[in-house]
Amino acid sequence: MLNLSGLSLSYGKHLALDNVSFELAVGETIVILGSNGAGKSSLLKALSGLEAYSDNTRISFDGVDLTNMAAHQRVDLGLSLVPEGRGLFPALSVEDNLLLGANTRNGRAREKENKAYVFDLFPKLKARASQLVGTMSGGEQQMVAIARALMSAPKLLMLDEPSLGLAPIVVNELFETLKSIRASGVSMLIVEQNVQASLGVADRGYVMETGRIVGEGSAQELLSDPNLEKAYLGTSAEI
Ligand SMILES: Nc1ncnc2c1ncn2[C@@H]1O[C@H](COP(=O)(O)OP(=O)(O)O)[C@@H](O)[C@H]1O
Ligand SMILES: [Mg+2]
Repeated sequence: MLNLSGLSLSYGKHLALDNVSFELAVGETIVILGSNGAGKSSLLKALSGLEAYSDNTRISFDGVDLTNMAAHQRVDLGLSLVPEGRGLFPALSVEDNLLLGANTRNGRAREKENKAYVFDLFPKLKARASQLVGTMSGGEQQMVAIARALMSAPKLLMLDEPSLGLAPIVVNELFETLKSIRASGVSMLIVEQNVQASLGVADRGYVMETGRIVGEGSAQELLSDPNLEKAYLGTSAEI
């Protein structure tokens, strides 16, 4: 479904991604693990068309070449990002935030069905449709961010550290929700630092360190890999 090859990305002189390649098959859930600064957010932004990358990068999605496509066109094709920090509009209601996510080709055509699907997935949001998002808890806001991304009826949902800053019980609830989304047939690319929980919903994983992929395996293999914690912690383990 998604094929990425040769992705390099620099911020000025700083090389944040160095020749990153990977694939994701239809229906797969993949997790990208890595410590702060590894390049995880840059990877998702590049795939979404939100950062410029090197000329030798190739991105294909569902057989379509995305490499030079604008961000909104990628969303129309079924690629949707839940960004780091969620990117919500706190002064707008839950419903208005969701409708902003529906402003794509698939989203407009199936707005009613998509809204029914996300309210089914998140009954709490249905009950609070008119609440201002800025008055909600972190966990609730993360639900709104995921629901908004689902309003564009994505084939591939990308999530940037969805569990960051949430209480453990809320994290459990979040990963249960991601399991339901996976079961509904949506592929997912999840960037996380929560190794155990994210591998619990994933088929496979990749490990990133300073802009490169340094390891990969099935979720089972990575969960039982004694070196993972060391590799994953990278240089921060020495601090
Ligand atoms: N807008 C930016 N300008 C300059 N450097 C950046 C910018 N965004 C990220 N970086 C740097 O690029 C590297 C990768 O960052 P990022 O992709 O955010 O990593 P992660 O999401 O894994 O924490 C880091 O060294 C970070 O400081
Ligand atoms: Mg990040």
